[in-house]
Amino acid sequence: MDRVRLVEVGARDGLQNEAARVPAPVKIELIERLANAGLPVIEATSFVSPKWVPQMADATEVLAGLKRKPGVAYPVLVPNLQGLERAHRAGADHVAVFTAASDAFNRKNINCDIAASLQRIRPVIEQALAAGLPLRGYVSCVLGCPYQGEVSLTDVVRVSVALAEMGCEEISLGDTIGVGTPSKARAMLRAVAEAVPMQRIAVHFHDTRGQALANIYACLEEGVRSVDASVAGLGGCPYARGATGNVATEDLVYMLQGMGMETGVDLDALVETGRWMSSKLGREPASKLGKVKR
Ligand code: HMG
Ligand code: MG
Repeated sequence: MDRVRLVEVGARDGLQNEAARVPAPVKIELIERLANAGLPVIEATSFVSPKWVPQMADATEVLAGLKRKPGVAYPVLVPNLQGLERAHRAGADHVAVFTAASDAFNRKNINCDIAASLQRIRPVIEQALAAGLPLRGYVSCVLGCPYQGEVSLTDVVRVSVALAEMGCEEISLGDTIGVGTPSKARAMLRAVAEAVPMQRIAVHFHDTRGQALANIYACLEEGVRSVDASVAGLGGCPYARGATGNVATEDLVYMLQGMGMETGVDLDALVETGRWMSSKLGREPASKLGKVKR
């Protein structure tokens, strides 16, 4: 059966954007529930500057407190060497670096332009590889930027290739503010896949305008088989004005099951996890499935 690898990002991309502080034990329980629901890759937290993202200040506590399930990967986001060192000390087994195809967005999010971000990332990748840590690289704003507007495909391809050549196993293409539509998403993916093998590409759609599932469908037709998603549709980027959550993992799994694609996920357990997390945040799940009457 055709298989899709899901990368669950709710505990990081989701919880980094919550106004209310979520206690570390709740984050840990979320990650453990997601692993028990069968998610193979769960981004656990980020080792960014707590001055920039206080929601992730407990990264060490979260990673250290986690009962890891054999066979599950728990990548963490790192912005610089300081983040890599903290992640390594906390026992991270996979790391992710990130930049954007937009200078304007990078300045807001990581306080430097594209060129400087790639320079900052290079030694992070070198040291992670030397420590035997597998790496993923994120490219944000692949279909538009909240600050500069249009983003050129040339920049998306150039940044993706740079991360791949530096040593990222997988490149995750992020529609950070959910502005894409299927034909634009397809064209963007085709352009990147001419330069980076499709097996090394993942897609990461925020659902701000309700286009995420349609965009993913178009990308699946193009051959992508690694998709990021966020339980209960949690998410957003604190430095991307107007960005809301990622595609909800529950809704994505439902669609994939309907298409006969295997994910290894127990959908009932996942929906329950989304409801549980949403109740901890004091709201309804943003997923459609979480709202279906039992
Ligand atoms: P900066 O202020 O230019 O850097 O920030 P700095 O080196 O001058 O550091 C400032 C202070 O932070 C210093 O402390 C550092 O020690 C400390 P002080 O001397 O003032 O006491 N610091 C750190 N502390 C702990 N861990 C660290 C670290 N680094 C510095 N790793 C920096 C530059 C990159 C650090 C900052 O801008 C930053 O952390 N940005 C992260 C923003 C972020 O996390 N955004 C969300 C994630 S990206 C995203 O969501 C998109 C994605 O989902 C894909 C998509 O949707 O497109 C991935
Ligand atoms: Mg994101």
